[in-house]
Amino acid sequence: MQQKTPLVAPSILAADFGFLNQSVQMLNDSEADWLHLDIMDGSFVPNFSFGFPVIEAIRKSSTKPLDVHLMINEPDRYLQRFAQAGAHLISVHYEACTHLHRSIAAIKSLGCKAGVVLNPHTSVNLLDDILTEVDLVLIMSVNPGFGGQRFIENTYRKVRVLKEKLIARNASALIEIDGGVDLQNAAALVQAGADVLVAGSSVFSAKEPAKAISALKHCNTSSTIV
Ligand code: DX5
Ligand code: ZN
Repeated sequence: MQQKTPLVAPSILAADFGFLNQSVQMLNDSEADWLHLDIMDGSFVPNFSFGFPVIEAIRKSSTKPLDVHLMINEPDRYLQRFAQAGAHLISVHYEACTHLHRSIAAIKSLGCKAGVVLNPHTSVNLLDDILTEVDLVLIMSVNPGFGGQRFIENTYRKVRVLKEKLIARNASALIEIDGGVDLQNAAALVQAGADVLVAGSSVFSAKEPAKAISALKHCNTSSTIV
């Protein structure tokens, strides 16, 4: 059986912001596929993170695509700014978009890939009428707002159901998982259908973050294969 290799998107939120440039260089030299940027507005989620100047600074030194996760209310107001700041992929929360179809179209019209994010309590069934429009579905495996939280086990079931729906519709959206992802759950997530793994704490709290990224990248590779 073919071993699927996931994309790995380290979350910069867990990096030491006093040494941001060094972290970006480390990620440039690592097997990371994307950089995951968590944007929090203190309203949609009970926390603030960072905004445009930080994204622009990262854009200047990063060689990898920027995967921007908007945990903000009324994201439509700022999509253009995020695209200008250097986002390659912009994901908006289902729970924050009254007119999700319009938001997805707006992201695409800016030349970015468009993703939709589901909170842990939000059913994948609610995406039935938009699945063929999105480039990515991000399933939150913690409640958004903070790094370092515990992985919610129901995520596996959501990934399996979503994967079946995508196959049934011949839709090409990637499935991304965010929150509490580490080597304990990574392989099972990939086997359930995940394509992209976001990892904050498990990467940046590791002694050697580049090795932690590599381990996630190859988490689904059978040890019997050399
Ligand atoms: C949570 C963020 C996540 C978070 C992941 O609100 O969306 O991207 O930074 O961090 P860990 O891997 O530590 O759960
Ligand atoms: Zn995130």
